[in-house]
Amino acid sequence: MYNEVDLSKIDIDKNPPDTEPKKQYYYMALCRNWVETMEQQLGRKLTACIQTFGCQMNARDSEKLLGILKTIGFEQSEDPHSDFVMFNTCTVRENANLKVYGRLGYLHGLKRKNPHMFIALCGCMMQEEHVVEKIKQSYPFVDLVFGTHNIYKLAQLIYERLQGNKMLIDIWEDTTDIVEELPTQRKFSFKSGVNIMFGCNNFCSYCIVPYVRGRERSRQPEDILAEIQKLADDGVVEIMLLGQNVNSYGKTLDNPVSFAQLLREIEKIQGIQRIRFMTSHPKDLSDELIQVMQQSKKICRQLHLPLQSGSTRLLKEMNRRYTKESYLALVDKIKTAMPDIGLSTDIIVGFPGETEEDFLDTMDVVRKVGYDSAYTFIYSKRSGTPAAQIENTLDKDTVRIRFEILLKEIQQISNKKIAQKVGTVQTVLAEERNQQNSSLISGRLSNNIVVHFKGDESCIGKEIKVRLTEAKGFYYMGEIYTA
Ligand code: SAH
Ligand code: SF4
Ligand code: F3S
Repeated sequence: MYNEVDLSKIDIDKNPPDTEPKKQYYYMALCRNWVETMEQQLGRKLTACIQTFGCQMNARDSEKLLGILKTIGFEQSEDPHSDFVMFNTCTVRENANLKVYGRLGYLHGLKRKNPHMFIALCGCMMQEEHVVEKIKQSYPFVDLVFGTHNIYKLAQLIYERLQGNKMLIDIWEDTTDIVEELPTQRKFSFKSGVNIMFGCNNFCSYCIVPYVRGRERSRQPEDILAEIQKLADDGVVEIMLLGQNVNSYGKTLDNPVSFAQLLREIEKIQGIQRIRFMTSHPKDLSDELIQVMQQSKKICRQLHLPLQSGSTRLLKEMNRRYTKESYLALVDKIKTAMPDIGLSTDIIVGFPGETEEDFLDTMDVVRKVGYDSAYTFIYSKRSGTPAAQIENTLDKDTVRIRFEILLKEIQQISNKKIAQKVGTVQTVLAEERNQQNSSLISGRLSNNIVVHFKGDESCIGKEIKVRLTEAKGFYYMGEIYTA
């Protein structure tokens, strides 16, 4: 959407400009020259494949990285047999890390056969010193390693790597910069994530995110609004506002603005039909926000409200700054204001020292709230976090059994909740052709639940009235409703 800069007009024989984002467009022009030379040598287009791990923040970052790669001249590919392969990594749990090492081994084989292949690693994992050390030692065939704070520099980094002959590493500890106005390549034409803030200041004791994403920084409201306006002009009807704790948006700006105030302004943007956001920290969810949601015609009836644990004792150990009781009271308030709200959550099982009683508290909250869906995780020790210092005497089998009991309970509750709406007519935003059954279109309700229905591609990106005919666990089957 920002692909408005004409690279052919940039004089690459001059010195690079001093200011961003101009400097990056200069490097994009230089890289495009290189891509064109390679194309002539190989007699074909060059392809680039980005594999993204982790959360929506990373997914959005990958859209920005792909925007730069496409501007440089690469064609997008899903195939790791590409000329440029990048892993945008996550380190929130250990298994996210292990996956990356596994795939790097595979890439090594590919690079042996195709030596001009360019391999880049970025994202949260790269912000950890021990990871970069391991890559230097064990994966020397990697070309470029950068972190979460300097993704906007991709073109410059590629160019600098091509000038040298060894792995280029550029990791920043933190940043106060927010570089705007670079190209992005959206995955969907009609919906988009929009970063409203970066980083996190909460330091939940188990969590590595504040260490790899840096301190909380909010974007200026006028920049956010301008971006959403541009997206709307480009056909986007649904936006997902992204931040690790959207409820504390704007508090650190020179002219503080609340998240609720920001939402009020976004609501006014013509063309935007649906507004979602994540993630909401329960400790910062204000009455003002509940009121704005209640009055809004565009904010979806969906709230992701991570619980982590239902035990007040463990919540304190986790540094979550709410209690079982205050969480339940908050949920009550939200449900009173919006009885049709779809609630979802994140829960960690097996935090060090979790007792049977703590676990039963979690089960109790799960039953009382009645989530539409819940993401459950087994605690994973992350080095450098305070919880990593706590001796963990829980045995794996106990944790696994608790995890399964919890999962079953969540499934039963959500199945029951979902079944209640069968027979009703609802508005679905049609998103894509179903991958398993091509006669079906898949879309989402306002509360984020997926619906599959018979339809053709002309529906995609539009709001369609659908009668829900059957509940299948966590999704519905439906048919287009014609009154
Ligand atoms: N900012 C969001 C969460 C980001 S991480 C929030 O505060 O809710 C996404 C989820 O991963 C968290 O909600 C948590 O449930 C889980 N998680 C984070 N660190 C973890 C760890 N060390 N072990 C297991 N799960 C973890
Ligand atoms: Fe991690 Fe807590 Fe920040 Fe969420 S709020 S990213 S769980 S530290
Ligand atoms: Fe993972 Fe980084 Fe997101 S650690 S969950 S990709 S912020």
